[in-house]
Amino acid sequence: RPDGGVGNGALTFKPVPPNTLDSLVVPNGYDHAVVIRWGDPVVPGAPEFDVRAQTAAAQARQFGYNNDFVGVLPLDGRRRALLVVNHEYTNEDLMFPGFTSQDALTVEQLRIAMAAHGMSVVELERVDGAGQWRPVTKGRRPYNRRVTALATKFELTGPAAGSAHLRTAADPKGRTVVGTLNNCAGGVTPWGTVLSGEENFNQYFVGGDGAPEADKPKLARYGITTTTRHPSGSRKWERADERFDLAKHPNEANRHGWIVEIDPYDPESRPRKHTALGRFKHEGANVIVAKGGQVVAYMGDDERFDYLYKFVSDKKFMKGNSRVARRHNLTLLESGTLYVARLDETSAGEIDGSGRLPSDGAFNGRGRWIRLVGGNRSYVDGMTAADVLTFTRLAGDRVGATKMDRPEDVEPSLLTGKVYVALTNNTDRGRAGKPAADEANPRNLNKHGQVLELVEDRGDNAGEAFAWSLPIVAGDPTDPSTFFAGYDKTKVSPISCPDNVAFDATGNLWISTDGNALGSNDGLFATAVEGPERGHLKQFLTVPVGAEACGPFITGDNRSVFVAVQHPGELSGASVERPASNWPDGDYAKPGVVVTWRLDGGPIGS
Ligand code: FEO
Ligand code: CA
Ligand code: CA
Ligand code: CA
Repeated sequence: RPDGGVGNGALTFKPVPPNTLDSLVVPNGYDHAVVIRWGDPVVPGAPEFDVRAQTAAAQARQFGYNNDFVGVLPLDGRRRALLVVNHEYTNEDLMFPGFTSQDALTVEQLRIAMAAHGMSVVELERVDGAGQWRPVTKGRRPYNRRVTALATKFELTGPAAGSAHLRTAADPKGRTVVGTLNNCAGGVTPWGTVLSGEENFNQYFVGGDGAPEADKPKLARYGITTTTRHPSGSRKWERADERFDLAKHPNEANRHGWIVEIDPYDPESRPRKHTALGRFKHEGANVIVAKGGQVVAYMGDDERFDYLYKFVSDKKFMKGNSRVARRHNLTLLESGTLYVARLDETSAGEIDGSGRLPSDGAFNGRGRWIRLVGGNRSYVDGMTAADVLTFTRLAGDRVGATKMDRPEDVEPSLLTGKVYVALTNNTDRGRAGKPAADEANPRNLNKHGQVLELVEDRGDNAGEAFAWSLPIVAGDPTDPSTFFAGYDKTKVSPISCPDNVAFDATGNLWISTDGNALGSNDGLFATAVEGPERGHLKQFLTVPVGAEACGPFITGDNRSVFVAVQHPGELSGASVERPASNWPDGDYAKPGVVVTWRLDGGPIGS
């Protein structure tokens, strides 16, 4: 570690100023390149992309749309790696020339959209001399793989698998699901698999008005409309596949909203949906091995006033890369204990919703993990384990979990065990009939969000009590309601709507944003989290017009930063013919993954 302290590596790059440029901007002394973009080949033999002649069969072999999570896993020493990417959703208006409305899409276009969802696994090779990487898609590439909403089969595991909630006409055993929906963030596990969160799955379903009356409150708690057949914003997939019609198949929605695990090193393996980690609008999941050997997954439910969760495995992590260890570790997320967070306040009487710092000088407090399910046993009155795991939001409501400002990515630092939570925003906080500000969510009508740090008691990630604080309350630093861990606010970059978090090899915290409410483009930021530089937040890059910055992923050698540029040009009225962004190729907009490196080959950030 070049600068000694963990989480305290000096970040010496010159920050990128806020801007509205239609390009990706990196600091002086850095370069960047597009690694892969929508339509590029993934599976060898994929047809060349032609926006005017696209088919579902082609899309199912090409890189999907709206890349979000990015993971880079070692393959063969320092020269080869596997890139694993989520494809969260589709912008049909930016994908199909002549688009007029979702209703006017052909069934083949709906199937293209389904094939553009899911995940991609792509072999990468290092470009000589620097931190640049490029995809390898020619020749025999056994790892290259597409997972889609259209055709990929998933196995359900854990206590709710096979339960009555998950059985359908097509799958009477309730154990096999076709497709994954709205895969947002995720994480790389210590045993070399990838976890992916199924987030806003509600938007794919219609016919909630025709679902059984007893199901309606549960559907509604998950954002599925139960009063009209065609809720606004629905994707109309029921025209291509009737399982998206809840009037016909009311349990199909229960088969989405899980954490998915995929083994990129075993291309023949069937990916799994782990019911033991609960069902909600999963942003993602990130794992750390606890002192006692159990693995702990931290997770957020990205909805206004929803909750923060963790899962602790029953079994212990087995070190090493032997077949026996790998096979064992692949079962770790199938049984364990699911908890939801309750945060206590130290300065509750002083919180007025303005974001003013309490007299003790900190937004902080203590908290407890409330047990919901352990193995097959429910700890929630009136709910079975399968009930709690399938309708986890209702369980959180019953036990009095703390209603947060949209928990997005939640990630433990593997160097310190401290956990960082991106709370992106909550413009409903404090409105009539809605919960008011509390110390962890200290601003009403919260446009800019905050970052929460959680420190488990005795450094035990498997424990049930913790301390928390807010190192960053986001916004323009000239806004008195912002906070940057007490650092000189004249020296920090403005930030709004933190979404994804990651760590570099020295333990610095990297934060990407979605929906910058300050009016400039989204981007990627970095700050030390320990020592005198804690809170010295600097903007590392900005993404093009209309895009959010996803990923991010910093390679273990600290030489490459990967970022997913999601939904460039996503502005109302934009189209293939009249793009709002020309990124990355100068014509119409395409989502793509970018790698950034230092021109002199040195470590990123320093
Ligand atoms: Fe898909 Fe919560 O961001
Ligand atoms: Ca306090
Ligand atoms: Ca996100
Ligand atoms: Ca977001």
